[in-house]
Amino acid sequence: MKTTYLDRSPTPSKRTKTLLTITSIKEMKAWARRGHEEGKVIGFVPTMGCLHEGHLSLLKESVATCDATVVSIFVNPTQFGPNEDFGSYPRTLEADRKTLMSTGADVLFLPRQDSLYPDGFQTYVQVEEKTGYLCGKTRPGFFRGVTTVVLKLFNIINPHKAFFGEKDRQQLEVIRTLVQDLNLDITIVGKPIVRETDGLAMSSRNRYLSKSERDSARALSQALDLARNQIERGERSAESIRKEIRRIIEEHKDAEVDYISICDPENFTEQKKITSRALIALAVRVGKTRLIDNCFVEGV
Ligand code: PAJ
Repeated sequence: MKTTYLDRSPTPSKRTKTLLTITSIKEMKAWARRGHEEGKVIGFVPTMGCLHEGHLSLLKESVATCDATVVSIFVNPTQFGPNEDFGSYPRTLEADRKTLMSTGADVLFLPRQDSLYPDGFQTYVQVEEKTGYLCGKTRPGFFRGVTTVVLKLFNIINPHKAFFGEKDRQQLEVIRTLVQDLNLDITIVGKPIVRETDGLAMSSRNRYLSKSERDSARALSQALDLARNQIERGERSAESIRKEIRRIIEEHKDAEVDYISICDPENFTEQKKITSRALIALAVRVGKTRLIDNCFVEGV
């Protein structure tokens, strides 16, 4: 059981909290129990690290609305497919620690892989229908891994609130379903997508992009903007909009569409006509990097 007390933030006038790093599940549970006994509202932000402003927006919300905030960093092997980037996923723990010092987070939880998934581990949790579309279709097993690890983290930390980004819109909805179906007393808070100045949704995977791929990656948000404009001007055919999005993306030789979906925002079934609120969700491979983005549109 290792507990490390880290230095105070370099700007102590702004931030007087210390960040406690906990690696042991037992210790994390004990901390959470004490928090509950003291009547604290505990907020939780699960991440895989390589923190950026998108993660920080969730943390800020937790710090602002809860008495204590736990952030976890764990690159979860069960949500990566055999040919995906688990091995090369960016692990930037020291930089992440520094970033976290000035956020007001209370605990950095760093569970070890062999303690979350010890030998003999064989229990998974799966949200059924909602995971049959979009990323669930093109990344089989992905959501099973996400819901399993998130439920495990919820059980260990026992938070009152947990914060998720709308960039991973389907993940957010799948987690809401998990919480509802399994009667968990956790409020799930969704926060808007944080973007770079040119519109690219922030992602830990953006750092894989070469300079020219980074230029092509702008096509995702550009295509969504254009689709939104077309709908505002009266276009209602999902097929026409999908075609236009594909055209914009395929103007870039290094970009390959994984999916373009215009769907119901809660159950993700495809829509033919945009007659009410719809979700446009994209997954695109730029070089070897898979990027996602989405926006809501109103067809009324
Ligand atoms: P990760 O990709 O590290 O993302 C952690 C959280 O940050 C997620 O809720 C994600 O939606 C949010 N996030 C990422 N980029 C964002 C952006 N540009 N704007 C707003 N929020 C953003 O998602 C995961 O990790 C994992 O699947 C996890 C839930 C931790 C389970 O392993």
